[in-house]
Amino acid sequence: MHILLLGQAGVLISTNTIRLLCDPWFIGSAHLQSWLPWPSTPDLIQQQFALAQQATHLYLSHAHDDHAHPETLRRIGQKPLIMGNFAHEGLKRLARDISSHVTLLEDGEPYLLGDLTIRLHLERPDYRTNSILVAETADGRVVNANDCGLDPDLLKRIRELGHTNLFLSTLNFVANGYPFPYLSGQEPDFHERVRQVRQQVVDGFARGIDTLSPDLSIAFAGPVLFSDPLNRHLNELEEARDWTVMVNELHTERHPVVSAKPCMTLKIDHEGVHIIEPGLTLTSCAPAPARPHETTPWNEDDDRDLEAFAAQLTNIARELHATVRTRLLLFICDTLEAVGAQEERHRRTISLTPEAPVCRPSLAHDSDEPHLTIYVTAAHWRAFQRGEIDYDTLLLSYLIRCSRHPDTFDATLHALLRFGPDAGTRAALISASTSPPLPATERLHITHEGRLYDVPARCPHEGALFDPRLVVQINGEACLRCPLHQWAFRLRDGACVKGDPSKRLQIVSTE
Ligand code: FES
Repeated sequence: MHILLLGQAGVLISTNTIRLLCDPWFIGSAHLQSWLPWPSTPDLIQQQFALAQQATHLYLSHAHDDHAHPETLRRIGQKPLIMGNFAHEGLKRLARDISSHVTLLEDGEPYLLGDLTIRLHLERPDYRTNSILVAETADGRVVNANDCGLDPDLLKRIRELGHTNLFLSTLNFVANGYPFPYLSGQEPDFHERVRQVRQQVVDGFARGIDTLSPDLSIAFAGPVLFSDPLNRHLNELEEARDWTVMVNELHTERHPVVSAKPCMTLKIDHEGVHIIEPGLTLTSCAPAPARPHETTPWNEDDDRDLEAFAAQLTNIARELHATVRTRLLLFICDTLEAVGAQEERHRRTISLTPEAPVCRPSLAHDSDEPHLTIYVTAAHWRAFQRGEIDYDTLLLSYLIRCSRHPDTFDATLHALLRFGPDAGTRAALISASTSPPLPATERLHITHEGRLYDVPARCPHEGALFDPRLVVQINGEACLRCPLHQWAFRLRDGACVKGDPSKRLQIVSTE
């Protein structure tokens, strides 16, 4: 089996009979023109497409357009396409638009493609849209985790399949929906918070290595270049485009790790993994300038659409039997510069509680009610509420600025914004809630060494449900570890000892 890295998350897996092309993104931009592939040169692009066109099949891991990139996919042309049987209607539409032969695989289902067997391990619950590809022949096994959250249980299931020869995952710590849209480069703790995200990403990669024990790991799916004035400062971050230090932290003699390079070629045979071609070292590139963003001002039609959008989310909340206590404060700006400077022209308060008005002009920033504030251009919010882009795109573009008060994560509001607009994920969200989702106020009871701890049920990072069995010792103290990104909170006082130290759980303990 041969593995050819094409740049970003693009990988061509070749056997005697099959060439499976994963997640190609070679041209244009992603996430509202904010991200550009790096490195990128005209010669490289020509080479990438020439190699990609040799593919017999395509695989798309998830819906983000740095992985499922319509412009790149259309230029490559028709191929049979494989992806997970996700609920996401938008991704299915894109798949059917670019391929007349789409195969949707269930979680873990083995699928034979000539001499290649593949399995897709799908993120759960069903309304999520991401997958890890496991591809194997008699020569060995590749695990392509792209930028899927490395869930420990999922990794264990993959380990049960047998030995992994090659593990591919990302170290692109600047590619996170949290905290980047919540941060401007001027925040006093900007560098500290970036450092924490960077460390979480490195820790996640290390978890993958620890669980799978691969012969070789490759850090890929990035870096990217930020093209717009709001985010260009991210390009200057020390490790944004050079992952050498992170790779060296992960690398051991027993478990080597290397950074991907475009056109790096590897071979897997019964003796292990061999790097056949080291790939291209490109230090400069001249990406095409981003197109200017549309600036049509907010108008009455937008207000009507916003009413309808808020009513739709309120209905979903009702079907989930959930009460959304966090209001959405929408601050509409004319330009991206105004978003950066947080100078809004129109304010709207959106309340998704059935008893309160759905949508009205907003009075103040500093309401004491729990709220999520979003500064956004009229054009970007309009595209979102019309379903032309999704909430992930808004977050990952970093072309919005968010803040939350209090600074805790409202999982229900987040789920409504993220999974409510798409008909498929909306239905999956509702059907997953036959037992109602836990409101932010729900608590867990944990007994540890004779004490009873009364703990919030959800993690303040991104709202994952805590597992009362995940109590671990850190520096000799009992801590509750979040199963999703492994933040840890000291049971004694709720302090976050791994993750963002500004977060604290309100924990009540009794003998
Ligand atoms: S949700 Fe991310 S650490 Fe808990």
